Amino acid sequence: MSDATILPIPRDLLAPGTGDAPFRAVATLSDLPPGRMLRLSRGDLDLLLAHTEAGLVATDDRCPHMSAPLSVGRLEGCQVDCPLHKGRFDLATGATVRFPTTGGLDADGAYHRPWAPLDAPPKPEPSDDKARARALTRVRRLRYYPLRVVDGRIEVRFPE
Ligand code: FES
Repeated sequence: MSDATILPIPRDLLAPGTGDAPFRAVATLSDLPPGRMLRLSRGDLDLLLAHTEAGLVATDDRCPHMSAPLSVGRLEGCQVDCPLHKGRFDLATGATVRFPTTGGLDADGAYHRPWAPLDAPPKPEPSDDKARARALTRVRRLRYYPLRVVDGRIEVRFPE
């Protein structure tokens, strides 16, 4: 494998501090065949590299809900399922495709009710501190890291 498509960074979702940072090699294309995800840690930053059906992308390996590692979720096409609360995120656009079961606030502050899969009992409305905390937890926007491929090496700009 010598080349791969790189997904454009969705509008306004560039990770802060990465614009002028140098590219650093993090993996090879053979480490990341189509359909695979990879977790990379550098200092306290955990990065998700994903080879989606539309191309390569680098974002945080932290669910924008409660920070679970998306790299142990499931990648289908361009969408990744979080392993914790069934949130689903589109890595090509940064959109939340399915809100977490716990409900809460979206990135714009709109409230979403808890929900339950058909085979599980319905979630109660908030009635204690834990439920209120869930309701106020905001699903933030994914942030993206510039990425390129040089001679089969995947290189990423980390924040400086
Ligand atoms: S931590 Fe990912 S959906 Fe809750």
